[in-house]
Amino acid sequence: MALLQAVTGMNDVLPAEAGRWRSLEARFFETAARYGFREVRTPLCEYTELFSRGVGEGTDIVEKEMYVFDDRGGRALALRPEGTASAVRCALEHAALEREPVVRWAYAGAMFRAEKPARGRFRQFHQVGAEVYGDASPAADAEVLDLLVAFLRSLGLGAFELRVNSLGQRGSRQRYRDALVAHFSAVAQELSPESRERLGRNPLRILDSKDPRDQTPKLTAPSVLDHLDDEDRAHFARVRAYLDALGTPYRVDPTLVRGLDYYTRTVFEVVDTSGSLGAQDALGGGGRYDNLFTELGGDGVSVPAVGFALGVERLLLAQPVKDPPAPFRVAVVAAARETDQAVLASALSLARELREAGLETHLDTRFVSMKSQLRRADDLGARAVLIVGRSELEAGTVAVKDMAAHAQTVVPRGAVAAHLRALSGSQE
Ligand code: HAM
Repeated sequence: MALLQAVTGMNDVLPAEAGRWRSLEARFFETAARYGFREVRTPLCEYTELFSRGVGEGTDIVEKEMYVFDDRGGRALALRPEGTASAVRCALEHAALEREPVVRWAYAGAMFRAEKPARGRFRQFHQVGAEVYGDASPAADAEVLDLLVAFLRSLGLGAFELRVNSLGQRGSRQRYRDALVAHFSAVAQELSPESRERLGRNPLRILDSKDPRDQTPKLTAPSVLDHLDDEDRAHFARVRAYLDALGTPYRVDPTLVRGLDYYTRTVFEVVDTSGSLGAQDALGGGGRYDNLFTELGGDGVSVPAVGFALGVERLLLAQPVKDPPAPFRVAVVAAARETDQAVLASALSLARELREAGLETHLDTRFVSMKSQLRRADDLGARAVLIVGRSELEAGTVAVKDMAAHAQTVVPRGAVAAHLRALSGSQE
């Protein structure tokens, strides 16, 4: 029978790696909490319409990459390709803005996109993200970016570039769209078939094309920054001024358009510049999306919003790997044959006491030989090995082997925890 395998592009995280995942997520929520963000958890699955309306019909995500299926009642569902639309749906459904004037939410979790798997690109991947609702100020954009940069630095990542741009609000964006259509229509014959097709539906996406045929026409394309109205221009200038005041380095990239339709005004991306990610070098991205609440909640709803998401797998690939400090490990060895259940029972309760005292404690419950239990304790890097046999049981003692000092002492059973505390103190 063929061995079953995980779905292509969906990865297992084995215990040797899981600690890095856990600490990255913990670091994210700790950093976000310092900026006033609280965790929200939304379902992995939503009605498909949320993303087609939210992310946009003409986007690659909605057109080609969503995992969609009908549930047993015939309703169209999608595995979430991103977290922003879900979080807005959740904020609307629970009237989050009736409870506080500005909502700051952070999240972590799996997202699904049926993309071609590559290094740093998966079909199930994970994001950490943060969103602010109810604050139109350019200072909110700067704070969100400040959180993003603070988090990357806290991971020990130094080689990255922050790219920022502004797409303006509806009026500016429409004018820019018209200018792009005029520009690219004039050179339509030179464009890749995909870009030609995009010309009618989503001309901004042509700027994102990596196809060699599109590169020359892109060079002379008009800049969105020349099409911003006065308010949009002022908003973007203020975002940059706040970033300057915070000492956050960035580069203005007028060709940055992002692959989701909901953005208005500020957009940004953080790119890894260490070279460790190859072609998939975008660590994260985000921006302002002042129309998404209206799009999803109806005409009467208007809530300015800004946020970002980072790819966890990519952060882990880019992060310098440090060996975590070895914990103080203890192994309890039951020196008994199968007939001597009382010894194993005593070892079980000793192990439980030590775990209650906060110590990582290992116990082999299979009645294997003392020799193999000691070998395993050594492999685990146990600092102390506690031996419980028939004579120790009767005497109310435990033999404690200090693996670093190669010394063995007999300790009264009731004094074991204190003895180990003293030993672990000497390790620090
Ligand atoms: P996004 O740029 O589509 O934005 O995704 C953010 C990050 O998720 C990417 O920069 C990348 O690191 C990671 N990512 C995306 N697709 C994959 C994949 N197939 N495999 C591995 N990693 C991937 C968003 O999702 C927006 N919701 C961000 C946002 C939040 N905008 C406003 N608020």
